[in-house]
Amino acid sequence: MTAIEVELRRVYGAYPTGVTVVAGLARGGPAGIAASSFVPVSLRPPLVSVCVAHTSTTWPALRDLPRIGISVLGAHQEDVGRRLGARGGDRFAGVAWRSTPDGCVLIEDAAAWFDCTIEQQFRSGDHDIVVFRVLWTPPPTSPRWSSTPAVTAGCGRNRADREGVFSRERNHRSGRRRTGGGRRDVGRVRFR
Ligand SMILES: Cc1cc2nc3c(=O)[nH]c(=O)nc-3n(C[C@H](O)[C@H](O)[C@H](O)COP(=O)(O)O)c2cc1C
Repeated sequence: MTAIEVELRRVYGAYPTGVTVVAGLARGGPAGIAASSFVPVSLRPPLVSVCVAHTSTTWPALRDLPRIGISVLGAHQEDVGRRLGARGGDRFAGVAWRSTPDGCVLIEDAAAWFDCTIEQQFRSGDHDIVVFRVLWTPPPTSPRWSSTPAVTAGCGRNRADREGVFSRERNHRSGRRRTGGGRRDVGRVRFR
């Protein structure tokens, strides 16, 4: 990833989003990814969308499935989002999930669910914009159900990130330019 892409990723991260899990039954078990790019698109017909990176190794197993579940994670499910968004490992280990008879995989206790088919896919840069048709929204099954969603927010994901942001802002204010390769690129993105 170039320095410009690292900076863009940080700035994109300033926009708060919910976290969903896009999942189905594939390869003899549940397969899915965490996705914060979920967007409700249309009421008539009912459509929602998710952007999937071309680098995803899980999406090829999902995109031909007849049904895909989208679970909107609840505020209490941060750990589920992290696990489903991690690269490698058994993502569903320790995660409570269920499948519908049609093969749609839903995360238990999520804030909301969508049982979907894929309507359209568009290539857009290094992602595909995937539009799903919502067939139905399964009702909650647990007395622990809460509609409060998980939300991602903030530029820096960790202390080191935040310190990097602060130091770049100080340099900008004092009019100094960094000359190191990565930082110079970051300056071009932010200040031209
Ligand atoms: C909070 C969170 C949100 C994510 N959102 C997206 C997303 O919107 N689109 C995407 O392609 N990947 C997203 N990812 C990354 C995927 O969940 C997953 O890690 C990635 O597809 C690589 O795994 P794979 O090779 O098994 O597909 C997100 C990860 C996390 C932790």
